[in-house]
Amino acid sequence: MNKRNILITGGAGFIGSHVVRLFVNKYPDYRIVNLDALTYAGNLANLKDIENTPNYVFEKADICDFEAMEQIFKKYNIDGVIHLAAESHVDRSIKDPFSFAKTNIMGTLNLLEAARRTWQIPNSKSQIPNLFYHVSTDEVYGELDFDDTLFTETTAYDPHSPYSASKASSDHFVRAYRDTYGLPIVISNCSNNYGPYQFPEKLIPLFINNIRHNKPLPVYGKGENVRDWLYVTDHARAIDVIFHNGKQGDTYNIGGFNEWKNIDLIKVIIETVDRLLGRTKGESEKLITYVTDRAGHDLRYAIDATKLKNELGWTPSLQFEEGIEKTAQWYLENQDWLDNVTSGDYQQYYEKMYG
Ligand code: NAD
Ligand code: TYD
Repeated sequence: MNKRNILITGGAGFIGSHVVRLFVNKYPDYRIVNLDALTYAGNLANLKDIENTPNYVFEKADICDFEAMEQIFKKYNIDGVIHLAAESHVDRSIKDPFSFAKTNIMGTLNLLEAARRTWQIPNSKSQIPNLFYHVSTDEVYGELDFDDTLFTETTAYDPHSPYSASKASSDHFVRAYRDTYGLPIVISNCSNNYGPYQFPEKLIPLFINNIRHNKPLPVYGKGENVRDWLYVTDHARAIDVIFHNGKQGDTYNIGGFNEWKNIDLIKVIIETVDRLLGRTKGESEKLITYVTDRAGHDLRYAIDATKLKNELGWTPSLQFEEGIEKTAQWYLENQDWLDNVTSGDYQQYYEKMYG
């Protein structure tokens, strides 16, 4: 008998794979069902180290397929959900907003409805407290000016990209299921993650890979945009804490208290990768290429994670310099992983964006 049966969606992606690994290893008495459609961003190689663990199951399925979702809830007697599956890259959302609306909004709605139908059977005697945990982003809050105060859990939503608009919409649906049907939910909104297994279309792995291959580093606009960065395993730890101890119905912001202007961050990446490759200090700065700015490019994201710290005792464990060093080292040592994911669809995408 498993103590719990937890469905993790998007578990073959970047953050999802770290969450699956943490839960499979830390909770041997839970059954962890990883549900993923294996889009371009999903890669089972991210989970090679745990794929044969007895409490781990993989289901290839699309969250847009409602019948499949209902069946999976029943088949595994799912009592908790950690929902990460999504289209996640802002630049792709500008090229193809429909797939973001489909997966991020309709896919989330399918899961909510499957959870409601499974968990709210009249007279259900289940002793396990059900929970639908929705993993979201700080981008729903819109952008800050350089001197604005940080996003808190009560900041009004003001999304600007099709990606953030679709995530904002999914957050609203999750709260609507809480308020209308009493579905037990919790939401977290996190800042930019970095670390191993991130698809190299996002800034940090893209630039590490390009420096390695002496390819141009496309800096949008003047490189003045600011992001708050959190090492991915710290996000996974926060999800664990919120899933088990968070207040039902609440929202928690997760962030690194670690803001960087893009161009300054890029110089740290260059310094680190050059050093690890035995190149002269700053040698790869010549690769910096300023390109046309992203449409609707949010100036600054910065998150206040004080509630999570005060109520649940979570703080980031890794200093940024340490995190970047570990990250650069991992990508340089895992060139096979990079080569594998940068083939096929990604090549065409890369040509379209940067070619
Ligand atoms: P990712 O793009 O690396 O992974 C997404 C995963 O979802 C992939 O494995 C993909 O195959 C799967 N997926 C996509 N569409 C699906 C569908 N229709 N059905 C089933 N599976 C599907 O994304 P990520 O960076 O790991 O982000 C995970 C979640 O965290 C997302 O919800 C994202 O909005 C949120 N988030 C990400 C960040 C970040 O910095 N990356 C920050 C805050 C929040
Ligand atoms: P990204 O990793 O796409 O995350 P997000 O847009 O969700 O914050 O981008 C991080 C920052 O880096 C963002 O301000 C856009 C910028 N950026 C570039 O300057 N060049 C690039 O090639 C990419 C992918 C991003």
